[in-house]
Amino acid sequence: CNKFVTLSNDEKMPIIGIGTWQASDEEIETAIDSALEAGYRHIDTAPVYGNEQAIGRVLKRWLDAGKIKREELYIVTKLPPISNRPHEVEPTIKKSLADLQLDYVDMYLIHTPFTICINPDGSFKMDEEGLMEVDKSTNLAATWLEMEKLVAQGLTKSIGVSNFSKEQVERLLKNCKIPPANNQVEHHVYLQQRDLIDFCQANNVVVTAYSPLGSKGIAKFNAQAGLKRDLPDLMDIPEVKDIAVAHGKTPAQVLIRWIIDTGVVAIPKSTNAARLKQNLDVFDFQLSADEVAKLCALDKNIRICDFAFFHGVERHPEFTFKNQYTN
Ligand code: A2P
Repeated sequence: CNKFVTLSNDEKMPIIGIGTWQASDEEIETAIDSALEAGYRHIDTAPVYGNEQAIGRVLKRWLDAGKIKREELYIVTKLPPISNRPHEVEPTIKKSLADLQLDYVDMYLIHTPFTICINPDGSFKMDEEGLMEVDKSTNLAATWLEMEKLVAQGLTKSIGVSNFSKEQVERLLKNCKIPPANNQVEHHVYLQQRDLIDFCQANNVVVTAYSPLGSKGIAKFNAQAGLKRDLPDLMDIPEVKDIAVAHGKTPAQVLIRWIIDTGVVAIPKSTNAARLKQNLDVFDFQLSADEVAKLCALDKNIRICDFAFFHGVERHPEFTFKNQYTN
């Protein structure tokens, strides 16, 4: 299995990165330090995660000390859902770059196909039903045009999207000068999205899998939004555990290897040094065809990160996720 994937613009992206959602500043500084020590070079962040400044501090320390060169790093960040408008693209990436203390990022993604409305004081706008309001005038092609300019300006090497459906990717492909190089979506054994992934790969759009281990931390957000859900534990699936035992590996390592074997990039999140190391240590074993078939047969179309905590977004015409759960 290759340690890098090649994007449509010939840039190389490490096939495993560290996901950084749901971690405090202290946790993230230690985690990024441990991740760099363990050999991670690909870091996935976003303004929404609130940790770009903390990540920037660690990167600066490593770069200033000469422990790493900028070109060895692969940094991904995103245009947040509240800024998904053409005129906000350039100032928003510049804010991220300032926070990350970098001159450029390697990949800039439109975080979501929908736009969340905010009040002048920065709070979320609620509609008459008390649901989060979304801006229905969002025009993805117009935002994309501004994303393309960032490449010419040298603010990012590559541009892409996140949480886009096949139809949304297709629409951009037909209306662009620079095709999206990446679509970052939820992907794991319980939400395989074969159709979307096949379409992206057939069109040279590299797919990145978020929540590759089932994102247990999302329970916290659901609880905050008053949603009661039993999230599945992917690392406790008997088939996954059996395959792990057979190879002397952990269930997490099996879940990651299954993803990257298909050329999909995986960004498991961990703030624990031992688990970070473990999640990168997946290149010394091979899943048999029979094991891959068993894992592929697990698909249940269960979306863990279904954005239900963003009440109201499912009513946006651009929003194509189907909630797997009801309140
Ligand atoms: P922690 O940060 O304490 O390691 P995902 O990447 O799908 O969002 O999943 C992240 C969740 O999985 C976090 O709760 C993380 O906890 C946990 N996790 C990450 N790596 C492992 C691992 N190798 N074994 C068990 N749990 C893990």
